[in-house]
Amino acid sequence: MRIGITYGTFDTLHYGHINLLRRAKEQCDYLIVGLSTDEFNRLKGKRSFLNYEERKQLLESLKYVSLIIPETCWEQKKDDVKKYHVDTLYMGDDWVGHFQDIGCEVVYLPRTEMISSTKIKEAIQNNV
Ligand code: CTP
Repeated sequence: MRIGITYGTFDTLHYGHINLLRRAKEQCDYLIVGLSTDEFNRLKGKRSFLNYEERKQLLESLKYVSLIIPETCWEQKKDDVKKYHVDTLYMGDDWVGHFQDIGCEVVYLPRTEMISSTKIKEAIQNNV
C-alpha cells in the first residue's frame, strides 16, 4: 500500500487542483491532503474565498482524496510523514527544490497552465 500526501489551500477548487490530485492518486493507493487552515493562510499572506470547512467539503467529495488533515504550519510535514507512514509527497512544480528533507520521496507534478485560485478570484472581481 503506497501512501501519498500533498498540501495546499485548494480555494475555489478548480481544474488545476483536480489534475494535481488525479495524477498523485494514480501513483499511490491512499492520498492524504494537508489542507491549509484559515489561520495558516493568514500567516502565508493568503486570504481564501472559501473557509476551511467549505474547502474541506469540496475535497471530501473527490474520489482521489482518501483523508484530509489540517495544515497549520510549514514545519509539520516531517511529523506527518512519520505519523502517516507516507511514501511520497506530491507537489506542483511551483515548489521544485522545496521540502527535500522531510523523510520521504518528493515528486513534483507539472502545474496545469492558465488556471489558479488567484486568477479565478480576479476574474470574479473584474466581472469577467
Ligand atoms: N496546482 C496545479 N496547477 C494549478 C494550480 C495549482 O498543479 N494550475 C497545484 C499546486 O502546485 C499545489 C496544489 O495545486 O500543489 C494546491 O495549490 P494552491 O496553491 O492551493 O492553488 P493555486 O490555484 O495555485 O492558488 P493561488 O492562486 O492562491 O496560489
